[in-house]
Amino acid sequence: MENIEALREEVLAEVQKAVDLAALEDIRISALGKKGRITGLMKNLGKMDPDQRREFGQALNALKDQVASALDMRKGDLENAALEARLTGERIDVTLPSRPDESAGRIHPISQTIDEIVSIFGEMGFALAEGPDIEDDFHNFTALNIPPEHPAREMQDTFYLPEGEDGSRLVLRTHTSPVQIRTMQSKTPPIRIIAPGRTYRSDSDMTHTPMFHQVEGLVIDKKTHMGHLKGCLLEFVKTYFELDEVPVRYRPSFFPFTEPSAEMDIGCSRKGGELKIGAGDDWLEILGCGMVHPRVLAACGLDPEEYQGFAFGMGIERIAMLKYGIPDLRTFFDTDLRWLKHYGFVPLDVPNMVRG
Ligand code: PHE
Repeated sequence: MENIEALREEVLAEVQKAVDLAALEDIRISALGKKGRITGLMKNLGKMDPDQRREFGQALNALKDQVASALDMRKGDLENAALEARLTGERIDVTLPSRPDESAGRIHPISQTIDEIVSIFGEMGFALAEGPDIEDDFHNFTALNIPPEHPAREMQDTFYLPEGEDGSRLVLRTHTSPVQIRTMQSKTPPIRIIAPGRTYRSDSDMTHTPMFHQVEGLVIDKKTHMGHLKGCLLEFVKTYFELDEVPVRYRPSFFPFTEPSAEMDIGCSRKGGELKIGAGDDWLEILGCGMVHPRVLAACGLDPEEYQGFAFGMGIERIAMLKYGIPDLRTFFDTDLRWLKHYGFVPLDVPNMVRG
């Protein structure tokens, strides 16, 4: 029995002194394992007489239980201490302010301008439409009243794709006007769409890049006329440039797909080399427009005796440059982060007339 008492004291003291879980496991094995000290005493039971065995056996079982629960408790304490240490080591102060401007993204002025245009026309009831960048000859030219060999094809320096098996050549669309065609082919009037997108012309200098953006507008029903076109575009320029009044004028022009055709200018002043929109006695061209040509309606399967309407198209870079004072067209596509930081927009923080 003294053996048992001595062993109890010895093992419990070891358990209390164990500094980590590994040490604790060693102690468990050396006491309760197959060759452990308590297990060793158990083996002696067989040689004892029944009375002695009962007494000794009960004492040993009690010792086993006591050691097992001491091991458990110490294990819990060690685990808690380890967790506590980790928590203090990895503490994060959630009340610290965020680091200033940590790689915050910006919205590109092109995306921003498209958003503004779409929301302004959206308010007027126009739906968003899109078409492919790679077009066929029919949608980019023929259906727009620009037949093969027509000199008007030379107005636009087209990028052609290699000839297909049937000898036809796809093109990178030279304007967004093919979206008009696709819309008239797939929808029955009334139609009111606004179609922004990428366009391509083989042209590159101070004021031209081979890829640029246009936005197309189209209204087709039974009675929309030139007066509606003027009212609609006037409303647009006032809202877009955030001005109460903007002088506008329409100059007769030519597009194969509209008749009559016009170019729209807005009033501006260039005094002292500074461009100011909405005031002064100078003019600035901003878009092309006109009444959809009867041949275009017919090419889309619409009866020109029944339907009519207007279309317009403008360059997005150009009107973005005018509103946001961006001097050089080519910088839009330089992917210069400093430029984007300067001219870009902070998401969710872009005030405009439509969204407030
Ligand atoms: N598609 C013409 C262009 O690229 C613009 C335009 C569109 C003009 C619609 C009139 C009507 O120059």
